[in-house]
Amino acid sequence: MCGIIGIISQNDVSERLLDGLKRLEYRGYDSAGIATLAADGEIDRRRAEGKLEKLADVLATRPLAGVIGIGHTRWATHGGITKNNAHPMANDTVAVVHNGIIENFASLKEMLQQRGAVFTSDTDTEVVMHLVSMHMQEGLTPLEAVQKTLSQVRGAFALAFLFKAQPHMLIAARRGSPLVLGITESELFIGSDAIALAPWVRTLCYLEEGDVATLTLHGDNAEVSILNEDGIAVERPLRQTNITADAISKGAFTHYMLKEIFEQPLTVSDTLQSLISVEDESFHAPLLALNKPFSKIRIIACGTSYYAGLVAKYWFEKLARVHVDVEIASEFRYRSPVFDGDTLNFFITQSGETIDTLAALTLVKQQGETCVAIVNVAESSIARASDHVIQTMAGPEIGVASTKAFTAQLVVLAALCLKFAKERNAISPHEWTNFFQSIAQIPGHISELLRNDGVYHQLAAHLCQVHHTLYLGRGANFPIALEGALKLKEISYIHAEGYPAGELKHGPIALIDSKMPVIVIAPHDEWFEKTLSNVQEVLARCAQVIVFTDAKGAAAIEAQTKTMPCYRIVILPESNMLTAPLLYTISIQLLAYYTAHMKGTDVDQPRNLAKSVTVE
Ligand code: F6R
Repeated sequence: MCGIIGIISQNDVSERLLDGLKRLEYRGYDSAGIATLAADGEIDRRRAEGKLEKLADVLATRPLAGVIGIGHTRWATHGGITKNNAHPMANDTVAVVHNGIIENFASLKEMLQQRGAVFTSDTDTEVVMHLVSMHMQEGLTPLEAVQKTLSQVRGAFALAFLFKAQPHMLIAARRGSPLVLGITESELFIGSDAIALAPWVRTLCYLEEGDVATLTLHGDNAEVSILNEDGIAVERPLRQTNITADAISKGAFTHYMLKEIFEQPLTVSDTLQSLISVEDESFHAPLLALNKPFSKIRIIACGTSYYAGLVAKYWFEKLARVHVDVEIASEFRYRSPVFDGDTLNFFITQSGETIDTLAALTLVKQQGETCVAIVNVAESSIARASDHVIQTMAGPEIGVASTKAFTAQLVVLAALCLKFAKERNAISPHEWTNFFQSIAQIPGHISELLRNDGVYHQLAAHLCQVHHTLYLGRGANFPIALEGALKLKEISYIHAEGYPAGELKHGPIALIDSKMPVIVIAPHDEWFEKTLSNVQEVLARCAQVIVFTDAKGAAAIEAQTKTMPCYRIVILPESNMLTAPLLYTISIQLLAYYTAHMKGTDVDQPRNLAKSVTVE
């Protein structure tokens, strides 16, 4: 949440600060601002409430000069969505941008006010600005003032500072929230992630927990020095990035989300190829390295990634016969979980920065259990803190609603399931080969489904007029019902709930009337007959039933519902227990996307959300 950028150059930086913020806008879009050191040596800033385009308008009428500056795009935590609360916070000594939360800001604010500080915002960030300038007035250098301030504040955050008295220097500090430095021979950059810096740098340096970095540029001499949390000078590895500006453009698509949905044949295939070899039915290094014995599995995640974990529970238990617990990270970390030292823990996360998942990982690591990250961003905090990393090959996911990262997570989990099933001799070699070969066909089936996306336009035209929907599924497709409901509600703002179809009678059926669309995920699998009974039950109560199924399922439904037909039956390619969740997910994504698009919501940046949830 919140995106940070900083640049030191020999040319004006405000245009590039704005450009970098565009690539960070997925982290928050309540307000934005930039500050530079103007030619007269004063800190100058422009801020605007609302999306980045508002800031661009302000800059068009009141440009900002300066070869050094910082910028911020905000997801509001402390203080409402107003221009006054927009970062950078600045006085005539220092400007600061901040991602995260200063937990003890209230007591610090009181202390500062008693000493005469005048606050102009309701943010926790302003406390940092006042502390740093107070310490500089006491005679400390900017670096010492930042260090002293960091010793006074509690919480998880990333910060970047610009100083009036230091026209060639920026300071960046990381505690709990990510920060990366970009280094070229003649320019230096700070970013919340590598995507922000993609067009300008290939050499990156990720800050570690507690690091404070000083970036200086004198002429062509670019220097970075880093102190760790104990104040000791350290070197952090330099990494080369291959993220290009192309990988993060929308191309011809109307939204990132649609582009990312349509990328799935490729991202699923890339992820598969990184893990398995179809020809000789073998596994590649990321899975082979996972060879520690375990008695059970725990999967911890949030949101959509949590639903991937729920799918895996069905798969692992049925096919690999291993006990699986799936945990919501924000609950797990504050429960008193029991550890047996013999559990293999998976942390599923697209961003690798979700604060609750990271905190749960820290908790499990303290107990000495093995921690494996299934993560899309290879250099993320969760990847770096885990014992073992399996990367999903989804590429940068910019749309706030997760799509291609979810299917890539499912691919990893399906491959793991096959590995565990083989190691445990849990299914017959014949069955195993069938499953193995079937997941290899998934990219082709997804392409086929995407070629027929017209049906989702028609369904969306209907759905965009309703206020509530129910999604039903059974077995490994129950989590897909949950994911369908989440996708629809987060981007279209239509209230949606996902239920296991068998649970309907225990309450939610009371909601059914002729205005309620019920979306049923029902491949012709071992639960199909039971799901069909549930379809009958809702049809009998006049619901508008939309069923996603395959050819066999469609024939059975049509035969049984002649007198009370479904509103629509959508036929998907044939699938099995492992492949169905992957395929049916594409349907619920398209349905949510086109519905939201027809409603005219901001699909890529839905209200109140941010892509990377780095605050509790
Ligand atoms: C929903 C969505 C979120 C994320 C959740 C976890 O579309 O994207 O529910 O899945 O915030 O994020 P990661 O996977 O980055 O840990």
